[in-house]
Formats: sequence, structure tokens, C-alpha cells
Amino acid sequence: MENYNDNSKIQNILIFRFIDKINSLIEKPINNFKNSPNKKTFKILDIGSSHGKNSVLFLDSILTNAQIKNKDAIEIYHCDQEINNFTELFFEVNKNENSYKNKWDIFSFAIGNSFLNQLMPSGSCDFIFSFNTFHWCNSKDGMFECKDGMLNIKDSSRRPGTVEYNKKRLSSIFTNRCEELKDNGVFVCNFLYYDPENEITSIGEQTFKNVKSVIRQMANENILSHEEVDNMVLPVTYYKQDEIDHAVELVESKGMKLLDTQIIHQAWNKDEVSKETFIGSIMAFSSYSIKSAIKGDSEKVNSTYKEIYKRLTKEYKEKPELFVFSLTFIHLIFRK
Ligand SMILES: C[S@@+](CC[C@H](N)C(=O)[O-])C[C@H]1O[C@@H](n2cnc3c(N)ncnc32)[C@H](O)[C@@H]1O
Repeated sequence: MENYNDNSKIQNILIFRFIDKINSLIEKPINNFKNSPNKKTFKILDIGSSHGKNSVLFLDSILTNAQIKNKDAIEIYHCDQEINNFTELFFEVNKNENSYKNKWDIFSFAIGNSFLNQLMPSGSCDFIFSFNTFHWCNSKDGMFECKDGMLNIKDSSRRPGTVEYNKKRLSSIFTNRCEELKDNGVFVCNFLYYDPENEITSIGEQTFKNVKSVIRQMANENILSHEEVDNMVLPVTYYKQDEIDHAVELVESKGMKLLDTQIIHQAWNKDEVSKETFIGSIMAFSSYSIKSAIKGDSEKVNSTYKEIYKRLTKEYKEKPELFVFSLTFIHLIFRK
């Protein structure tokens, strides 16, 4: 993710749409912990922290609401992939005036590992949260070919095997969280959802075709090769209800109960991101996929990426109607 802290307002809105529900659920385990005579530490795991801004703001809300005190021994573990910029994360955690670091004596740690693995010792976590993350996949999984666009959403665009791929992934993600949670621990997450009945769900597919055609023009001008442009694909999967049901059923049999679920639509509204610019907010999560497809040294990669950014900004200014984006998310709350 590039410049993520300055370009993640929509993700922040998605998180805060559920804050009341999460606050009411998490209050009890925190109070139980505060009143327990033989307490050790209250461990919170944040999966997909990126550069930390939204994690810090979410944690501030949760911890303020639970009226925690310095004597409440809280540990926060931020996890992201090895390639995440953990320097940015620690600057945010240490310097943001709303950070728990600047309000309470809370200890923080970072984990560079995939959410497909177990991230913490069995039965150690009191609260796990993961926002806007579990739909991110590995482009090497062979599921994300997309020559005329960058994102496969619709049934007709889905690669064969997606149902099994999604079921397996989500089962592994949920099973590992179930293993990490203490009894009575809470796990909340949201991720991209595909509703075949609702056109809004797949509107982004066309937008990213429009993005790709701006980049394709650079291959027509021999600035990039067609192969490089073909490879610029977002490795994002949209989960369908029956795939989610499969994974939920599996973890319910292992002792983690689904308490609440909600589907929401959120327009990628340019007014919401006006401070950030629309293209900036889209590129914050696309830059890695675009840059990693460009061959050559870092100077060439950066200058070509800059040119792509410039062309997209120009196209957006001239034809904003081509860049309509909306997200459909499912939000889940579990207790073990
Ligand atoms: C859109 S950001 C979400 C950041 C923050 N949670 C929020 O809601 O604003 C998604 C994050 O997921 C991380 N991610 C992607 N695949 C991952 C994996 N397999 N394991 C851990 N983190 C992953 C990315 O590196 C990125 O930082």
C-alpha cells in the first residue's frame, strides 16, 4: 500500500459504520478482564494494519469507550505481510496524537506474517480485528488473470475454481483466528462481498477496465510492453454468501460462534475523499500491483508509475463518469 495513511478515508468510514455494535460487544470482555483477580495481559491482534492510521483511530474509540486505565495491562499486536512498511506503522503508532501510545501505558508489537497462518499462540487473544483485508490474495495463486481490466468481480469474469479457492482461504483464515482466541474472545472482520443480485457490487469491474485502457495506451506507445500491462491485476477476491457459510459452519463446529453479520454498500464517493483526490485513493491500494508488473530498475519503475498516475489524473479530470466505484462489504462478529 502506498501513502495509505493519507488515502484511506473510505476504509475508515467502513470500519466506523460498525463501531457501536463492536463497542457494546467488546466492553464485556474488557470489564471481565479488569475485574479478574488473576489477570495477566489483555491481548489485541490487528490483522492487516497497513501503516496504522485506521487501526490507531479504531483502537482509540474502543479503548476510550471501555474506559481503560494504565494499570490494565494491554498488549497490541499489529500484523501485516512481510512487505508492509512497518516503519510507517511505528511512526503512526508513536506519533499520532490519538494513538493509544500517547494516552495510556500500552505495549505494542508487530508481526510480519500472512493471515493464512496462525499468528499468535493458541488461546492467547482476547480480541482480534481485521478490516478491509481478507479479500487480498497472492497474485501468484493463478486466480487473477485479467487482460482487459484489473479486477474480476462478476460471475462471468470469475476464474474457474474460485468457489473452492474462496472456501479454502476463508476456512483457513477463520480456523486460525479460532485457534488464537481465548474462550469468550471476540473476533470482528469485514471483507469484500459479491451479491450477484445487486449491480452496485460489480460496478468497479468496469472502472478498472477504464483504468486499464489508459495504461494500455502506454503499451500502444511502446512505453510499456503489452505483457506488463496484462500483468497489472489486483489480486482481490469477492466472497459469495455460500462460500462464507461454508467457512462459518466449519469454525462453528470448532467453537467460534457467529453473533452478527451485516452487508453494506459504500460508494467510493469523491466528496468523501476530496482531500485525498480520487485517483490517489484508488492508487493507494493499486500501486503495488501496478509497480510489480513494470520491468526494470527502481528508477524506471518509479518514472513509469508517475506517468501512469499523471495520465489517470488527467483522464479522471476530463471524464469523471468513467471512474465510478462502489464497495459491497460483509461484516462479521464472532465470539469463541
Ligand atoms: C486495505 S489495507 C487495510 C488497512 C487497515 N486495516 C484499514 O482498514 O484501513 C489491507 C492490508 O492487508 C494487508 N494484507 C494483504 N494480504 C495479507 C496477508 N496475506 N496477510 C496479512 N496482511 C495482508 C496488506 O498488506 C494491506 O496492508
